[in-house]
This record gives sequence, C-alpha cells and structure tokens, in this order.
Amino acid sequence: MMLACASAISAAMSDAPKHTPLVFSGMQPTNTLHLGNYLGALKNWVKLQDTMPCIYCVVDMHAITAWQDPKELVRSTREVTAAYIAAGVDPARSILFNQSQVSAHAELAWVFNCVARIGWLNRMTQFKDKAGKNRENASVGLFVYPNLMAADILAYRATHVPVGEDQKQHLELSRDIAQKFNLDFGAPDFFPLPEPVIVGPGTRVMSLRDGTKKMSKSDESDNSRINLTDDADTIAQKIRKARTDPEPLPDSKDGLKGRAEAENLINIYAALADHSPETVIGQFAGAQFSVFKNALADLAVEKLTPIAGEMRALLADPAEIDRVLKSGSERALAIAAPVMAEVRRLVGFVG
Ligand code: TYM
Repeated sequence: MMLACASAISAAMSDAPKHTPLVFSGMQPTNTLHLGNYLGALKNWVKLQDTMPCIYCVVDMHAITAWQDPKELVRSTREVTAAYIAAGVDPARSILFNQSQVSAHAELAWVFNCVARIGWLNRMTQFKDKAGKNRENASVGLFVYPNLMAADILAYRATHVPVGEDQKQHLELSRDIAQKFNLDFGAPDFFPLPEPVIVGPGTRVMSLRDGTKKMSKSDESDNSRINLTDDADTIAQKIRKARTDPEPLPDSKDGLKGRAEAENLINIYAALADHSPETVIGQFAGAQFSVFKNALADLAVEKLTPIAGEMRALLADPAEIDRVLKSGSERALAIAAPVMAEVRRLVGFVG
C-alpha cells in the first residue's frame, strides 16, 4: 500500500505549491554535548541561519524516554541551550526553545502514533541499539520516539532537517508518516516531506578509542569523546591518546581503506577546518601521527575552547537562558497553533 500511495502523492506534490523553506532540528539534553553533536549538526545549524528561517529545539521530552534525574534535566536543558548560543545560534534570528513548553509536539505525536505502523517502528535500528537485550523493559516512549520526532518537525511544516547520519532512518520514517497522514486524511500537500540535510565530513564522528564505534554521550570512556565543555589541556590530551595505527598518513583517500581511526581523525580535522578530507590528506601525506595529532589538537583547541568559554559565561545567568527559551516557545507556538488547528479539523476532532 505504501509504495502505490507514495508515487501518487509525489505526483500530487510536484503540481502543488512548494512549502515555505523552514529548518527544524533538535538535540537531547542528556549529558554534555560532544564533538560529534557539534560537527554532525550544530556547526551546520549555524550556517543554515544565513539561508532559511530556523527553529532549534532542546528536546527534553525525548530525553525522558530513558529516566532522567529531574534536577539534572533542568541543568542539562540550560547547558544545551547555552551550547547552541555559544556555537553561534542567534536567538534573535532563529527560534530557540525547549520542546515540553509547546504542547503541539505531544499532541501531534499522539495523532502520529495512530498513523505510523508498528512494523515501521520495529525496523528502527536505534531502538534496537538503545533497548538492547532487555527490550521488554524499555519504555513505550523509547519505542514511539521517532513518531515524536516526526511531530517536532511537522508541527511547523518544516522542510529541512540538519542532522548527523545516525538520524537518517528516523527522518525517512518522518517522511513516511507525513505521506500517510496526507493520504489518510485527503490532504495531499498538507505536510511537506522533510529533507534530511546531512552534509560535510563530520556527519559520523567516531569514538577516539575505537574507530568502528560512533562517538557517543553514553560511552563509558570519557576519553572516547571530546565534550564541548572540555578545557584546552583535556582536548589536547584526548587527541594525543586517540587510538591510531603504526603507519604514516596516506597520500590519497584510497589509502584510508581499513584504517577507521586514521579516517576519523582526518574527517574531524577537515570538518573543524572547513576543508575537504582530500585537502587535509594532501597537507599531511606521509606525516607521522604524532605530527598530525599536534596539529589537530591545536585546531580543536582553537575552535572549541571559545565555545566552552562562552557557555560558562551564559550559564552564569540561568534566568537569562530561561527567558530566551520562554520567548522562543512563544514564537514556536505561534507557528504550530494554526497547523494544529488544521490537523484537528482534518482528523475530525470537534472543537
Ligand atoms: P541526539 O541528541 O542523539 O544528537 C543530536 C545531533 O547530533 C548528531 N550526532 C552526531 N553527528 C555526528 N557524529 C556523531 N557521533 C554524532 N552523535 C550525534 C545527531 O545526528 C543529531 O543531529 N532524535 C534526535 C533529536 C531530535 C531531532 C528531532 C532531530 C528529536 N527531534 C527533530 C531533528 C529533528 C537525537 O536523539 O539526537
């Protein structure tokens, strides 16, 4: 059914007026953000502000799909907000808010719980990874998490979603949900099919301890990641300790085959420097890792420590952070309210 419908809807979409370009993305306030969050998403968010209106959300409702200490959630929500601003998200230009303050997210997620199919969610690899062997004991929220993510985006009818590669499958599901809603309720162009924006060499930053594992907030080893709050010495030390192999750096991209750790460090350098990996390989061809790691440590310290400093300054005034979030929530609600009124009408809710 999905496939036949999909082509019908794509045909209808091509005749329909285009949706107004709008960016939406978010991060979970669980633990401190790391280099993967920065290079895979945040750095691109900042650039996109020059091309389209943007909405950036701290997804606190997603965070509680695994239990969070409430005090820690408050702290972490403010810290992630500070990280967005310190990295260059401008709360005057872009809308910056926390998810729980706009009830449209929860409301639309319920409608999407009734649109999405259990079979679709059963295919989500992140649920399988996060639930692990003890699946029966995972929260129901963790299972329907991608429906909430679709609601986040579609409550604003956002068209572009900048994320790291690990979110690709969830965005494909968002597109399926949008298509099925449009079809089920006879509103061919109501929701846009949001486009993933997964660009640059930092879309999948790997652990510094194991080049086959994604850099992650939940890795037991703090040496596996660079946190956005790390100071210069810690950053340099983690890079110097990063796992590598005994060979010097290659002179072409082909030479990185089977060398996951080397490839990861080159990609990190390229993403931080805003160069292509090929340029970085050209620059360091034949160099020993000790030389390359020193250059990478200097670059990472130069790019990341101002963000940590600015975060500290912002966090010294939590009331100001709360004001930014509140004003962002009001602006977000103003966009979501008419969309939700139309959703209620389309679904047949009297009111
Ligand atoms: P989250 O909080 O796990 O991650 C936030 C962003 O960081 C990216 N990312 C990475 N990129 C490159 N390398 C890595 N090692 C790495 N680790 C994380 C993620 O791809 C993401 O872009 N479900 C989402 C949050 C979310 C969302 C949304 C995103 C909720 N609703 C709507 C977009 C639109 C999540 O858990 O991201």
